[in-house]
Amino acid sequence: MNETETATPLKISVIGCGYLGAVHASAMAEIGHTVFGLDVDKERINTLSRGVAPFHEPGFNEVLSRNVGRGNLAFTMDYDDLANCDVHFLALGTPQRDEGLGADLSYIDSALSALTPGLHARGGRTTLVVGKSTVPVGTARHIDERLSTIPGVKLIWNPEFLREGFAVEDTLSPDRLVYGVADTEDAEKEIAVLDAVYESLLDKDIPRRVYNFESAELVKVSANSFLATKISFINAVSELCDITGADVTHVAEAIGMDDRIGSKFLRAGIGFGGGCLPKDLRGLISRAGELGAVDSFAFLRDIDAINTGRRDYVLRLARRLLGGDLEGRRITVLGVAFKPDTDDVRDSPALDIALRLFAEGAHVTITDPASLENVRKRYPSMRSKESAQEALRDAELVLLLTEWNEYKNLDPVATGEIVSRKAIVDGRNVLDLARWRGAGWETVALGRP
Ligand code: UGA
Repeated sequence: MNETETATPLKISVIGCGYLGAVHASAMAEIGHTVFGLDVDKERINTLSRGVAPFHEPGFNEVLSRNVGRGNLAFTMDYDDLANCDVHFLALGTPQRDEGLGADLSYIDSALSALTPGLHARGGRTTLVVGKSTVPVGTARHIDERLSTIPGVKLIWNPEFLREGFAVEDTLSPDRLVYGVADTEDAEKEIAVLDAVYESLLDKDIPRRVYNFESAELVKVSANSFLATKISFINAVSELCDITGADVTHVAEAIGMDDRIGSKFLRAGIGFGGGCLPKDLRGLISRAGELGAVDSFAFLRDIDAINTGRRDYVLRLARRLLGGDLEGRRITVLGVAFKPDTDDVRDSPALDIALRLFAEGAHVTITDPASLENVRKRYPSMRSKESAQEALRDAELVLLLTEWNEYKNLDPVATGEIVSRKAIVDGRNVLDLARWRGAGWETVALGRP
């Protein structure tokens, strides 16, 4: 047993093998459990079964291939394979519904319909279902009622706080573990099972809090909505900086020194995206409305509007820098993932801006170290280049929209020799503007003079 392994190996299933589930399954195998990952996507299951990561996530491929190789991690589409598991994690996506702002729970619903017929009493041993998906407050209690007819089956809601780009690290060393449990006399028994799953994490003194279902659900959506609020707040300040000549990076630095505020998530720029912050924010607005707290959560609509407004702002900047009309103008977009170190383009502000420039007739070339394949699948007519150097050739305007290191470290002199006109928008406030200007570039950052 190595230092990170748990002393009591369990049989675990992880249902749903997206970013969250695939990483969670691999991490649970890494700490010594025997794990089955299940998904309905055949191609994904085949790829994972070969020990190959189906998406870009630093460190994930190693953990996945190591555990598939040593035989304690397997992937399946068949619920029968999960029959003997002690614990079933629900790691299904809960995207925004096609209509309205609320979350679509249909994947969780189908998974439970497929899982429950195989759940049965196991001679006095508890079978634990653990919800990891992000859900509207009130969902866990409904699921608990649904499971309560099956003897020996218990539910804990255990929200996940991992960040893409740090998913493996965040799963193996989270800053907290939250358990939402039913208020029953024998709750200690189910808590003990989840403690056995996380034994090696708890041994590292990771704080663990036990709350009721509703609190656990609300921790998750409140955390994401609060992070979104911080970002939109600093982006609103950044607009004032543009008007007044203040520098938003200075304002953020100094307010962040107050440890009541903290310096994280105060990076102004083109705003937040991804599969979580935007939809969780909207999900909370929707659920609060259903529960009669419309007015108190109305401000979150502004948080959302400030965020999407950043994209309009960049479009206006691009038009201004190119003299008004974008038709036929050569624009290079550096970075289209919703943030660096991921290939995820879900609700990516960078990709949205690129698409809107394209829709206005600009001759847009995108590049990104990881996500081009994902973009090409969805938007085959977008012009893309593998390397920044190729993408930058003859550009009349460069937009840096995802702060990959490769773009942060571009040399302004060498880059100036590739483009046809030296103009750059720093959409993430990561460039040394004085250096770029010194090399003859016209520079525009968001909220910096
Ligand atoms: C987010 C949360 O940070 C995780 O804690 C949570 O577990 C996860 O959602 C989830 O619910 O699954 P993630 O979506 O990976 O994680 O991305 P973040 O690192 O939160 O970044 C979100 C967006 O905010 C990105 O587009 C990023 O560029 C932007 N951002 C972040 C800023 O614009 N400014 C900042 O200062 C920070």
